[in-house]
Parts: sequence; structure tokens; C-alpha cells
Amino acid sequence: MKKISVVVALVAVAAFSANAFASAPKGEALFKEKCAVCHPDGGNIMNPKETLKGLKDVKFITGKIRSGGNGMTKFDAKTVSDADSKLLADYIIKTFKK
Ligand code: HEC
Repeated sequence: MKKISVVVALVAVAAFSANAFASAPKGEALFKEKCAVCHPDGGNIMNPKETLKGLKDVKFITGKIRSGGNGMTKFDAKTVSDADSKLLADYIIKTFKK
């Protein structure tokens, strides 16, 4: 009996930490902090044709983060790390499907 509760406790801890480090919440926080001013709800207040909806390509998004242009801020690796830009891309692809 004792052994089983130890295993259950470990599984619970593992599930909790996996959840705490899952990419979605961090991607969402980053998006709100760095992108939502111009892209609220995946839209685009500066150029309504260039929304974030229906994007599927991680590399396209991470490239745009680094290059900016046509009114978009350029984010260097100090402002948005490579890992963070991937989290942002994953968040955008998952969140703004239509
Ligand atoms: C100052 C306003 C501004 C901010 C801040 C901003 N963007 Fe943009 N974004 C734009 C504009 C304007 C465009 C259209 C640029 C163009 O036509 O090339 C754009 C275009 C894009 C595109 C291409 C969309 C498409 O359909 O071609 C992506 C992807 C994108 N932004 C992602 C981001 C991410 C991720 C962030 C946060 C890290 C961000 N943007 C922050 C203004 C902004």
C-alpha cells in the first residue's frame, strides 16, 4: 500500500511540473507582452491584411520576428530569444487558426 502511494505522489509531481513548463502559457504571456499591442486577437491594427490567422509555418513566424519591417518591430535575440520566438510561433499557430 505504502509503495503505491509513493508512486502516485511522484506521478502527481511529475504531471504538475510538466504542466508548469508547458509551452502554451509562456507563449501566451510572451505574445501579450510583445505582440498583442499590434496583433490583438491575432489581428493587425497597422495592416489589417497581414493578420496572424491561419499561419502554419514556424520558420516564417520566427523569421518575421527577427526581420520585422513594413511597420513591424524587429526583435533581436536579446529581446526575444530563439527559444521564445519558437514558443511564440507555436502559440500563434495553435491559437489563431481562423
Ligand atoms: C509595432 C507593431 C507590431 C508589433 C509590436 C508586432 N508586429 Fe507583427 N506585424 C506588424 C505589421 C505592421 C505587420 C505587417 C508587415 C508586413 O506587411 O510585412 C506584421 C506582420 C507580422 C507577421 C506576418 C503576418 C502575415 O500574415 O504575413 C507575423 C508572423 C508577425 N507580424 C508576428 C509578430 C510577432 C510574433 C510579434 C511579437 C513578437 C509581432 N508580430 C509584433 C506589426 C507589429
